[in-house]
Amino acid sequence: MSTDSRKRAPIGVFDSGVGGLTVAREIARQLPNENIVYFGDTARVPYGSKSQNTIIRFSEQIIRFLKTKEVKAIVIACNTASALALDAVHNEFDVPVMGVVIPGARAAVEATQNRRVGVIGTDATVQSGMYTKVIQSMAPDVTVVEKACPLFVPLVEEGFKDHVVTREVIEYYLESMRDSGIDALILGCTHYPLLRSKIREYMGEKIQIVNPAYETAMDLKKLLYEEKMENDGSTREHSRYSFYVSDAAEKFRRFANTVMPFDVPTTNVVNIEEY
Ligand code: DGL
Repeated sequence: MSTDSRKRAPIGVFDSGVGGLTVAREIARQLPNENIVYFGDTARVPYGSKSQNTIIRFSEQIIRFLKTKEVKAIVIACNTASALALDAVHNEFDVPVMGVVIPGARAAVEATQNRRVGVIGTDATVQSGMYTKVIQSMAPDVTVVEKACPLFVPLVEEGFKDHVVTREVIEYYLESMRDSGIDALILGCTHYPLLRSKIREYMGEKIQIVNPAYETAMDLKKLLYEEKMENDGSTREHSRYSFYVSDAAEKFRRFANTVMPFDVPTTNVVNIEEY
């Protein structure tokens, strides 16, 4: 690939479903010249209840698919796949792959004053203990309290953002977290920023809510700069953002239109098992 076509190549972004849109949205905001190919694994969501081997296999298939779109870098916009598959896939492909856990951990270490950080995520992410490991490798004096909130993902996928049931589930999961003395809480699942205002309301103003998406987009910007792969925007394509899913394209498209700051006119279905 020539240097120019490499610069114009899209960024691949993937998640188990709609959650990664919160990261794609931030990338679009911070890197407005970049093209994005998004893949949501809607046929196989949730990842949070699956084994590490399965999550690695799914991630490999999606990376192989994204490579057919000639992406220049891949962002695993899923904490579960970042925690369980990034190490395995990192050196397997000839394209840079980054996750959301390291940026999220760094943001929380910077945010906490009292050195007590909370992390909420899927069962798989919390069981992996990856956030605790990464945070303590950056700042050994920080205590980390982790809590799995598995029902948040289906609530988000079903569009229950403002539902009374969601408020009750938030209270059920987060009561002990609220009383644990933390002053920063990582939304360690990319679906959770879609519940941010309700979580914020419940946790109160004193606890900083950390969304790893912001820091992830910053890290991506740095990577593109260092690798001289930034798109300078001189050759804007007509359709700069494309969306693929493994099932239920129309439901995804409607959801994407509530998250992204621009119109998502089409979503394409891919048979991901073929990759
Ligand atoms: N959004 C994903 C994450 O960040 C995965 C949720 C799931 O599929 O369980 O962990």
